[in-house]
Amino acid sequence: MFNIKSIRADFPILQRQVNGKPLVYLDNAATSQKPQVVIDAIVDYYSNYNANIHRGVHALSQEATDKYEAARQKIQHHFSIAKAHEVIFTSGTTQGINLVANGFASLLKKGDEVLVSALEHHSNIVPWQMLCEKTGAKLLVIPMTEEGTLHMEAYSEMLSEKTKLVFVNHISNALGTINPIDEIIFKAHQVDAAVLVDGAQACSHVKPDLKELDVDFYVTSAHKMCGPTGVGILYGKEAWLKKLPPYQGGGEMIAEVTFEKTTYADLPHKFEAGTPNICGGIAFGTAIDYLNHIGFENISVHEQELLEYATEELSKILGLKIYGTGTEKTSVISFNLENIHPYDVGTILDKLGIAVRTGHHCAQPIMEYFKIPGTVRASFAFYNTKEEVDLLIAGVKKAKQMLS
Ligand code: ALA
Repeated sequence: MFNIKSIRADFPILQRQVNGKPLVYLDNAATSQKPQVVIDAIVDYYSNYNANIHRGVHALSQEATDKYEAARQKIQHHFSIAKAHEVIFTSGTTQGINLVANGFASLLKKGDEVLVSALEHHSNIVPWQMLCEKTGAKLLVIPMTEEGTLHMEAYSEMLSEKTKLVFVNHISNALGTINPIDEIIFKAHQVDAAVLVDGAQACSHVKPDLKELDVDFYVTSAHKMCGPTGVGILYGKEAWLKKLPPYQGGGEMIAEVTFEKTTYADLPHKFEAGTPNICGGIAFGTAIDYLNHIGFENISVHEQELLEYATEELSKILGLKIYGTGTEKTSVISFNLENIHPYDVGTILDKLGIAVRTGHHCAQPIMEYFKIPGTVRASFAFYNTKEEVDLLIAGVKKAKQMLS
């Protein structure tokens, strides 16, 4: 049963006021709020079994290690990953992408081509540009349409035996477009190109089956999924992870060190140098349990209802334009009011206790495509309500009245 009242009671922050008004948190694409169980998991770790992992024979270290590895397995099962050691803990999506981009520096050569979609976040553009600068490989952009979807015919035409890698997000953070990643992966594999999918915006809305997708790399962050900041995962197919060189050197990632030569640890430790975010990894596991307890089917139905309602109501406001109008969308609405800067709208909404993000959303090429400096972005989570959408609509109308 999906009981929105009891779900909201799980999130202490949703009870607070901002600028004298009840908080209406609609910036979930930037980061999600945390339920009490996740906060408790963090407090429990530091209160009861804080110790370094994989290192000590003492009881606390063993307990922390067991819980951290149990979280890895939880993540493995959640994403239908074949082997636990194909789950690499990272500091988040950005680090996962950089790890892979760094690894491919030794595998690419001049003349190779890598494809990136026009809908990417800067974190899925810049590391590949750096890789291309290092290797002489060419970065090609899969174009987008007016609806904010990918031009799939152009994509098919761009693929060739020169294509070595394709990078695409599962869901666009700026527009909410859900990309056809199954088709993208299938077509890339026909020319033997590897695919990295940035799942940062997707995993709070859907539960991807990575085995079925047959994706080569998938990265995501805990903090968008009701977990803590500073932790995420890189999934990589075992064969790829064995092929890629380590990203960082340090403790934990070695088999043996002498001044003459170092040999590296097996997966996943080869990519996990240094003391990780132990508490974060454990609490990520708790967040995944929590989301599964709510149920992804329930999450999807509720969020789609909010999206449809908000789209319908916002569209009635004269002079308001929505960016990202494809049919496959998640609960993100990017919009602008004619001749009004998004920042000014965001400031007025904030005064009303409504949190939205304004600006380019770390996706400047998308803004350039639409010839705008940025948008106002409202992004809904399963704990948002129709009443909160009404407050947003009223706030936008008020902003229009004050700023026109
Ligand atoms: N990538 C995050 C966003 O879209 C921060 O807001």
